[in-house]
Amino acid sequence: MTPSPIAAFMASLFSYNGRTRLLDAGAGVGSLTSAFLDKASHEGIDVDVETWEIDNILGGYLKNTLDEYVRQGQGKIKAHIHAADFIEGAAFSIQFDCGNRYTHAILNPPYKKICASSKHRKLLRMVGIETVNLYTAFVALTMLLMEKGGEVVAIIPRSFCNGSYYRPFRNLILRISSIRQLHLFESRNLAFQDDDVLQENIIIHLVKGEPQGAVIVSTSHDARFSDYQQTTFDAAVIVKPNDIEQFIHIPTVIGQTSTPKLCTHTLRDIGLEVCTGPVVDFRLKAYWRDKPTDGTVPLLYPHHFSDGALCWPKSHKKPNALQLSSDVSKWLMPRGHYVLVKRFSTKEERRRLVAYHLSYEALDAAYIGFENHWNVFHIGKHGIDEDIAKGLATFLNSTILDEHFRVFSGHTQVNATDLRNMRYPSLEQLRKLGKRAKNQPNDQATLDRLLEELETA
Ligand SMILES: C[S@@+](CC[C@H](N)C(=O)[O-])C[C@H]1O[C@@H](n2cnc3c(N)ncnc32)[C@H](O)[C@@H]1O
Repeated sequence: MTPSPIAAFMASLFSYNGRTRLLDAGAGVGSLTSAFLDKASHEGIDVDVETWEIDNILGGYLKNTLDEYVRQGQGKIKAHIHAADFIEGAAFSIQFDCGNRYTHAILNPPYKKICASSKHRKLLRMVGIETVNLYTAFVALTMLLMEKGGEVVAIIPRSFCNGSYYRPFRNLILRISSIRQLHLFESRNLAFQDDDVLQENIIIHLVKGEPQGAVIVSTSHDARFSDYQQTTFDAAVIVKPNDIEQFIHIPTVIGQTSTPKLCTHTLRDIGLEVCTGPVVDFRLKAYWRDKPTDGTVPLLYPHHFSDGALCWPKSHKKPNALQLSSDVSKWLMPRGHYVLVKRFSTKEERRRLVAYHLSYEALDAAYIGFENHWNVFHIGKHGIDEDIAKGLATFLNSTILDEHFRVFSGHTQVNATDLRNMRYPSLEQLRKLGKRAKNQPNDQATLDRLLEELETA
């Protein structure tokens, strides 16, 4: 349930003028509607509220809360509770255009994956919404139910900001509404950045049918808003005008509008490619081997690296090798220099981007299997130049890039698409960086110093 200071902050973002029809979909016990009604009554506004809550127990509390507001409102507040599935109800209203349009919506929707074959997915498709999670479904349906100029304030995970799965959702939202404000909960300390669920959530304020203008980006370190700050950014900083993916970049550091100076080239410009580790281990279970022997190839997982160094083979529940066979060989890459980036960083890791240079010499094997928890930088499924690989790993592990990546990517995963859409130094710069990084210690301060020297060279 949304804590009351967050609910009050969300309610404070709306403009209150005239006739107000409020929607709260997935209303729980009514925390958000309560905050809205408190603010509206302070402004002397009449409100018709419609809430949707599927859970009967929560619905009971919701009814008590709303009854009290209606009683105290003396005719200025009307409330209706739909004890039903919002997706079904909203899809029906949109399809038959029989719903009343809302002027305001305040949401903390449920978060859950929607299965490809589910009833929800089919209902959403019927009204032109293609999405993979309940929270984006709730926001998209809400947006379709709003009248022109209607305002939506929602607290939702940041994951919709990038990633291909959410592209249709971003396309819809950015086509029919504009982003007025984004609020982030920033950690004071990078080390604790992922500890708090709050930091993976943002508050977004959208206005239907309004041309996109400048966007307010605000931050606070916690839900008390005691150190609230805001800056206004040009819309092009948030969504790059020619970006077909329509990624939503949220500057995490107030005042940070630019990408690092070294990020100038696309991956294609520098002739590199990146893919998800091709070996999906459970599909090849019949070929798992604990110990490398003749006729096997190394299978590398992220747990095979610690403190930047390869530690293979390793005693673990997962295999160290795969028996060579025609089923296996199509997923392998030949021996070479590769850069491996973990798709999921652990809580202990301060950085979101964790990259390793796997050198040609590291493994005495003609082919290598890269497990699916990796992103692998390669050229045509082969290795890359040694200095470039070393330089690329150094660049990816730098603090400056990590900070940039956090702006760029809201979630804790690192997808190959994110890496494909990032900008990189030139090949010459990467080569220079790789040469300098050789024989240097692998600590953060050294990596950052090497990057700084390259930036100022
Ligand atoms: C994250 S909670 C937020 C509750 C409330 N909005 C708040 O901010 O405190 C999401 C709510 O959505 C409700 N919910 C989940 N699926 C729903 C559906 N399909 N239709 C209506 N409500 C749903 C859940 O029961 C839950 O109360």
